[in-house]
Amino acid sequence: MTEIGLFDAMYSARALRRLKPDPVHQAVITKILDAAIRAPSGGNAQNWIFIVVRDEAQRRRLGAVYRKASDEVAEIYAARGRPAHLTDAQYQRLMAGGSYLWDHMGDAPVLLVPCLRKRDMPPRDTLPDAVAARYDAHLAHQERIRGSSIYPAIQNIILACRALGLGTLITTNHILYEHDVRAVLSLPDDVFTFALMPIGYPLGKYGPLARRPVSEVAFADRWGEGWPG
Ligand SMILES: Cc1cc2nc3c(=O)[nH]c(=O)nc-3n(C[C@H](O)[C@H](O)[C@H](O)COP(=O)(O)O)c2cc1C
Repeated sequence: MTEIGLFDAMYSARALRRLKPDPVHQAVITKILDAAIRAPSGGNAQNWIFIVVRDEAQRRRLGAVYRKASDEVAEIYAARGRPAHLTDAQYQRLMAGGSYLWDHMGDAPVLLVPCLRKRDMPPRDTLPDAVAARYDAHLAHQERIRGSSIYPAIQNIILACRALGLGTLITTNHILYEHDVRAVLSLPDDVFTFALMPIGYPLGKYGPLARRPVSEVAFADRWGEGWPG
C-alpha cells in the first residue's frame, strides 16, 4: 500500500463509525499496537494494556454495555444542544453517526480497549516532610493526569489505522458502566479502561476534518491575546 504523509493522516483521520464486518489480519493489529506503544507515558511507566477483542460473544457483550451507557449520554447531548461552532448539518451528521454506533459497536470485527494499570503513590511516610505535607495534592494531581498516559497512545492508534486504510475512533461512553466492562474483560482490580475503539475497514470516507480555526483557539503568552499567525 502507498504510504500516507503524517499531516495528511492528521487532517483526514475522522471518526469513522460505519465499518465493514471483514476481519482485520492479526499482523495488521499487531502493527497498530506497535505504533501505540511508541507513545509517551508519565515517567515512561508504560503501564498500559491493550485488550484486543475479536470474539463475537465478547464484542456483543461490550456492545450492550456501550448501548446502555450511550442511552444516558444521549440525554446529556440532547439537553446541551448543538455547540455554536457546528453547523446544523455538521451536528446532524455527528448525532447520526453517534446513534448508528449505539447499535453497531459489537459489529466491528475488532474492539480495542486501551487500559492502564493504576500506579500507587509511594506511602506518605517514605517521602520528605515537605512533600508528605502535600500528599493529598499529589494524589489529586495523579488522578488529574492519569489519562494523559494513555491518550497519546490512543491517538497513535487512530493515526496508524488511518495509515493502514482502517477506520476507528475513540469512544468513552462505556466508562459510565466501567464495572460491567471490567466483568466482561475479567480485569484485575488495579486495571481501568480508558477507551473502546471499534476498528475495521471503513464504509465511509476519510476527512477532510473541519475544525474551529487556530485564530479562535490559540492565544499568545496569556489568555485573551490573539495568536498573530
Ligand atoms: C474523549 C473523547 C470521547 C469520545 N467519546 C465518544 C463516544 O463515546 N461515542 C462516540 O460516538 N464518539 C465519541 N468521541 C468521538 C467524537 O465525537 C469525535 O472525535 C468528534 O465528533 C470529532 O469527529 P471528527 O474527527 O469525525 O470530526 C469521543 C472523542 C473524544 C476525544
